[in-house]
Amino acid sequence: MLISAADCRTFMISRETLTSSHETLSSSIAIGHRVVPSRYFLAPLAGYTHLAFRRAIRELGGLGLATTDLVHATQLCGEHRHSMELVATDSADQPLSVQIFGSSVDQLVPAARWLQDHGYAGIDINMGCPMAKVNGQGGGARLLCDADNACRLVEQVVAAVALPVTVKMRLGWDRESISSPYLARRFEAAGIQAITIHGRTRQQGFQGNVDLEGIAATVDAVQQIPIIGNGDVRTLDDALGMRKVTGCAAVALGRGAMLDPWIFRKLSDHSQGLVPREPTQDEQVNFLVRHFTLMTEQHGERSCTLFRKFAAWYGAKLGIPEDLELRLRLFTSFAEFESIVHEIRARHGERRMNVATALIKVPNGPVERW
Ligand SMILES: Cc1cc2nc3c(=O)[nH]c(=O)nc-3n(C[C@H](O)[C@H](O)[C@H](O)COP(=O)(O)O)c2cc1C
Repeated sequence: MLISAADCRTFMISRETLTSSHETLSSSIAIGHRVVPSRYFLAPLAGYTHLAFRRAIRELGGLGLATTDLVHATQLCGEHRHSMELVATDSADQPLSVQIFGSSVDQLVPAARWLQDHGYAGIDINMGCPMAKVNGQGGGARLLCDADNACRLVEQVVAAVALPVTVKMRLGWDRESISSPYLARRFEAAGIQAITIHGRTRQQGFQGNVDLEGIAATVDAVQQIPIIGNGDVRTLDDALGMRKVTGCAAVALGRGAMLDPWIFRKLSDHSQGLVPREPTQDEQVNFLVRHFTLMTEQHGERSCTLFRKFAAWYGAKLGIPEDLELRLRLFTSFAEFESIVHEIRARHGERRMNVATALIKVPNGPVERW
């Protein structure tokens, strides 16, 4: 499955050329015929990076491409309510790709056509999800285990639509079967327009460090298409470091964007030679209000319960006193939300917190049981 050492050397040369040319390139990037305005993307975090969050974070500036949570291909074609909520978007939520998962041509091709027919501009195929319910059906990271099947699948999806099709994958199933360089090369030949690579194996789940060399090997394996590096990017230096070390054309941030929604703006400031701006206290509370307000546009009163998931995160992020965080977890009406925000504005920063990535829950225990 692995490419040969001689192939690797050839690709190493092309990576050096790429890395240096990136520094002189503009901040926009082409994915097939789409031009994305920034090289810093929002990685999908199922349950978090929904329409309201995407719109709120886009308004802060600097974000390139965002991708929806993974959507079950068959349920998408059946227009199941949950899938429709996941693919909900609007003109302020662009550029956007929709991520689909499935294990067969019969599932993925109709879903790709459905997306094209409904006006979406980009399709991403999930080959990284480590969860048993996805892998058990042959989807997500399980696709990394059978290269021929994965290639047939992407070929057929690419042939079925005129939209750019991309893949998000991991380095391989486990350390003993690192397949991303080989697959990336074949996917490019099959017409895939960009690949996001999370620098861990499926076996690692979210443990251990991201393997930048593994991402670099994937960059080296392709001829032209952009490789988007992903994993553990929390700060501006992490993002710039990932591009420098791996030669990747763009970086996707998941948990780092939750940790600091202003990171895209900071990266944009940096790329223009400006001092990256930190958000003021008011801006931070305004973000919370905007996120909730946008959520109500999609979900109405149900937003009061949906927003609870974010209470601990905002509590820590904004230094909201514990009693107010508790109220944010329990509120049931818009009026109550307004009264909580009023108090947050007055008492914001009372609690000094150092936000941990752990606030975005990842599954734990042996990966086989996820
Ligand atoms: C809660 C959670 C949900 C995720 N959902 C998705 C998903 O729907 N599709 C996907 O491709 N990756 C998903 N991922 C993986 C992330 O996109 C990303 O690859 C991973 O978290 C590493 O990047 P990060 O350190 O920037 O978060 C998820 C990760 C987490 C923690």
